[in-house]
Amino acid sequence: MLTVVVGLQWGDEGKGKVISGLGSRADWIVRVNGGPNAGHTVGGTKVHQVPPGIEWPGSKLAIAPGSVVDVPKLLDEVDRLEREGFDVRDRLLISDRAHLIRTTHRVRDVEDEEGRGEAQIGTTRTGNGPVHADKYARVGTQLGQDEEARRSIEKAGILIGNVPSALRAAVSAGKDVVLMVAHGTMLDINHGTYPYVTSSHVTVAGALDSAGIPPDKWPMKIIGVAKAYTTRVAPGFMRGEVGSIDAQVIRDKGNEYGTTTGRPRRIGWIDWGQLRYAAELNGVDEIWLTKADTLVGLPVIAAVNGTWDDPDPSVQALQAIDEEDFERAGPGPLPAGLQAMIKGIEAYTGAPVMVIGTGPGGNDVLTYSAWGWVGGWHRGPLR
Ligand code: IMP
Ligand code: MG
Repeated sequence: MLTVVVGLQWGDEGKGKVISGLGSRADWIVRVNGGPNAGHTVGGTKVHQVPPGIEWPGSKLAIAPGSVVDVPKLLDEVDRLEREGFDVRDRLLISDRAHLIRTTHRVRDVEDEEGRGEAQIGTTRTGNGPVHADKYARVGTQLGQDEEARRSIEKAGILIGNVPSALRAAVSAGKDVVLMVAHGTMLDINHGTYPYVTSSHVTVAGALDSAGIPPDKWPMKIIGVAKAYTTRVAPGFMRGEVGSIDAQVIRDKGNEYGTTTGRPRRIGWIDWGQLRYAAELNGVDEIWLTKADTLVGLPVIAAVNGTWDDPDPSVQALQAIDEEDFERAGPGPLPAGLQAMIKGIEAYTGAPVMVIGTGPGGNDVLTYSAWGWVGGWHRGPLR
């Protein structure tokens, strides 16, 4: 079975947690785009280039051709993860086609940003823009083309090889393969809020292209991940931005500071029209709503109600989520404000919300299951 996990907002939706929720059953967990600009918190630790899924010793990890790799940083990350008790070396396979991030790319990223003055994109300064510029100008270097990079990776016990062929063989053999798209759809180079975007494809179509998986050969489940509110770590268009005092409460409660850069994230109410835009683009089958617990106990919560091209969408107040109601939810009914939020998401996107995050752990979730025509929420992971 092929599963694609894609963020529906501006990144930081909690895709790492979704992988934790699915992970023990995945044979392969694959990063398909970006490089050290991404960051996920899994099992209390941070990963940047290594795919989340490190928690499950039985899962193999891969970095697909459409990704970029900063070799010295990757080796440091693998060392750190090994010291923290995660066994990474023998199960990480990197595509020989991934492009190499050089020191010059990082330097150019900083220079380009400074040259933009007031109009900074707010990049992570990891060289992501310049390495993609070189790739498409056909002056970049693939990992397999650089003897020295190749040797240092292999010396560290990490495998380099043909990732698409390994993945196709796995899917053909009925294995579980999870493609994990880094960042979020609204940062996509084609479909995002250009120029305030990243330089890679942040969509399901992009994931299949990078992984070398034909789009119509195998059944595929597409999980869209959305946070119960919106965050954005740098400048650029977003809607429903929350006033600074409430934003600070949510930011602290939800620890909304960049995983890679430590920057405070901008905070907005969940945007139903924006979610529809991203869900349609990716053809999502179901939605996992993360970090609902962050909103519990706030005196007000709201949602942006209007399609993505609506120049003046309304911000609709929802009932506050009471702490006791939240604790009682699953098997009891969901708190009214949360129920209304989910109804709006489902009405706008046409996709069902199947999982609601209630805390940081992979098992801290409410999961929807249907028994005949009687459906309901229960506490705990998918069974
Ligand atoms: P770059 O990817 O470093 O070029 O940065 C381009 C834009 O994407 C900036 O707004 C970054 O903050 C944003 N960005 C890149 N990676 C992530 C991520 O993993 N989560 C959230 N924002 C990201
Ligand atoms: Mg992140």
